[in-house]
Parts: sequence; C-alpha cells; structure tokens
Amino acid sequence: MYNICLVPGDGIGAEVVPATQRVLEATGLAIRFTHAEAGWAVFEKQGKSVPADTLDKMRESDATLAGAFTSPSKKVEGFYSAIRTMREELNLYANFRPAKSRPVEGSQDNIDMLMIRENTEGLYVAAERRYGDIAIADAVVSKGASERITKVALKEAQKRTKKLAIIHKANVLPLTSGLFLHTAQETAKAYPDVDSYDVIVDAAAMHLVRSPETFDVMVTTNLFGDILSDLMAGLVGGLGLAPSANVGDDHAVFEPVHGSGPDIAGQGIANPTATILSACMMLEHLGEKEIAQMIENSLNQLLSRGIVTPDLSGSETTVSFTDALIKEMAL
Ligand code: NAI
Ligand code: MG
Repeated sequence: MYNICLVPGDGIGAEVVPATQRVLEATGLAIRFTHAEAGWAVFEKQGKSVPADTLDKMRESDATLAGAFTSPSKKVEGFYSAIRTMREELNLYANFRPAKSRPVEGSQDNIDMLMIRENTEGLYVAAERRYGDIAIADAVVSKGASERITKVALKEAQKRTKKLAIIHKANVLPLTSGLFLHTAQETAKAYPDVDSYDVIVDAAAMHLVRSPETFDVMVTTNLFGDILSDLMAGLVGGLGLAPSANVGDDHAVFEPVHGSGPDIAGQGIANPTATILSACMMLEHLGEKEIAQMIENSLNQLLSRGIVTPDLSGSETTVSFTDALIKEMAL
C-alpha cells in the first residue's frame, strides 16, 4: 500500500491532478490518497500558502503529487511561494526535469535529456530589498549544496550516456557561479567514467535550440535550471508535456513544470500529460518502474494518434483525454 498526498493547488492544477488520480487508480496499485491544500487560494483564506497540516500530510506520505500554485508578480505582504515553501521545508534539494521527444507536432526528434537543477539556493532565496529606485537581490551559492547536486547529476549520468554538462556563468560571476562551477568540477573528479564538461549558460541556451540531441544530463543553479527547463519543454511539445520531480533525502514532490495556467483555467482543456508523466516519475521513485513505463507507452500511443488537447492543436478535453488514456491502458 502506498500513501500518496495530492496537492492540486490553483487554476489548472485542480483539473490535472484529479485526472492523474484517476489514472493512478486505473493501474490497480493499492494506493491510499490524502488530499491537502496549498497555493494562492489557501493563502487568501488562511494567510499561508502552505498550511502546517499540509506539510504534515506530505511528511506522512510516501510521496506527494502536486499540481500548480499561483504566485503574484508583485510583492504581497506575508506571501511566500507555495512550491518554494515545500522545497525548503522538506529539503527537496534536487529538481529533476527530463525532456524527451514525443510523437507530436512541434517535438524535435532524438531528444532525451535531463536537467538537474539545484533547488534550494541561488537567486531563488529571494533575498530582495529596495532602496528608492534601486532594487537588489542576493544570490546564495554554497559549496555543500553545489557538491550535493553535482553528485545527484553524476549518478544520473552514470545510468545514462555518462555525459554531464555543468552550466554556469562563472565568467561574469566568478565568486557565486564560479564556486558552483569549481565545486562541480572537483566533485566530478571522483567519477572518472563520466565525461563532464562546462558550458556558459547563454551559449547553452543557443546549443539547446540548435543541437539539443548533443545534450544528455545537465546540472546548474536554480534560476538557470528553471529557465532552461522551460526552453527544453518547448523543444518537445511544450509545457503540457513536461514533468518534474523535487527530491530530497526524506521526501519527494512530483509536479508538472507548468504553472496554474490562468488563461485556460476553468475551461476543462488543460493537458494532464505533464502531471501524468510526473506521476510516472513518482511510480518509478516508488519502485513501480513497469507500471510507469506502461502508462508512458499508453500516453505515447494517444499522442501519436493525434488524441490530444488544444495546446497540441487537438480537441480533447482534460476528461476525454484521461478517459482515452485509461481505455488504452486497459488494452
Ligand atoms: P503557466 O505554465 O501557467 O502557463 C504558460 C502557458 O502555457 C499558458 O498559455 C498556459 O495556458 C499554457 N499551459 C501551461 N500548462 C498547460 C497545460 N497543462 N495544458 C495546456 N496549456 C498549458 O505559466 P505562467 O502563465 O507564466 O504562470 C501562471 C501562474 O503559475 C503564475 O502565478 C506563476 O507564478 C505560477 N507558476 C507556478 C509554478 C509551480 O507551481 N511550480 C510554475 C510556473 C508558474
Ligand atoms: Mg518554471
């Protein structure tokens, strides 16, 4: 029996997580679901984007499947991003963001890469302050976190094609990004079977667009990893298909890369694939590799037959797509 905490959150999160729950139920695995709240709507009600009992429920579960959480683009007193709260409270220091070619229009061929993003520090510590017309943000880079994330990436590289790109901007930021780069390079020395090389982030963006098939595993700091992973999603069919995992030593939260999709929320047309693929990553994490693979194969079948939601120029709804997937899985 697995205990899974579901935190749908805001906007389309509340549409794609229930769809994914149906898919998980259709696997026949014994799963007990716990439901918990987080995000903007709960902040408005309770003054906290992640209430304490949500964190308790997450800690008590084997894994968490999250949807998406709205964050305002302006400063709101007392508000702190829900997903960042979860990453910090549960020490989910490694963010896995894979991008694989999919059988849809708009996906390039021969792409199979994995971004390992440092998930706890960098510019995302959000240490901002304002002095009149000047605003300043601190970026935090520590040797410990850089070494820890590089080890995660090196171990992933060992399981794959043994290539690791260390992405940085040490030429402009030699103390912060430099510490990350040099720590990563030092750490990589203990893994001589992995061919690790460094790429400056702006060049990495260009190479990712022009020759994505040359990348396998990448490791980088928080902000660069966030931006480049959306770019990667754009190469293989868009945000509707991009899954991710936030992994720590004691817990893991699986979530789509996309946000709460305010432009399409409430219409029932969000693509649940990114969340379903995140659930596949969760099943793999729990040791259910075969079931994860079966769901992914069934998804690829639907995509290749053009059974897709409007983000991929199809006419399926979240519910009809999920119905079709469950039917395909039963074949
Ligand atoms: P977004 O990812 O919500 O949407 C970007 C575009 O992609 C929109 O046009 C949206 O309709 C489309 N899209 C995203 N997911 C889709 C899906 N499953 N099916 C079909 N189309 C999809 O990003 P945006 O608009 O920049 O941010 C909206 C809100 O989400 C903000 O409040 C932001 O803070 C939050 N956000 C939360 C994240 C999280 O919870 N981890 C991650 C990114 C953004
Ligand atoms: Mg993002």
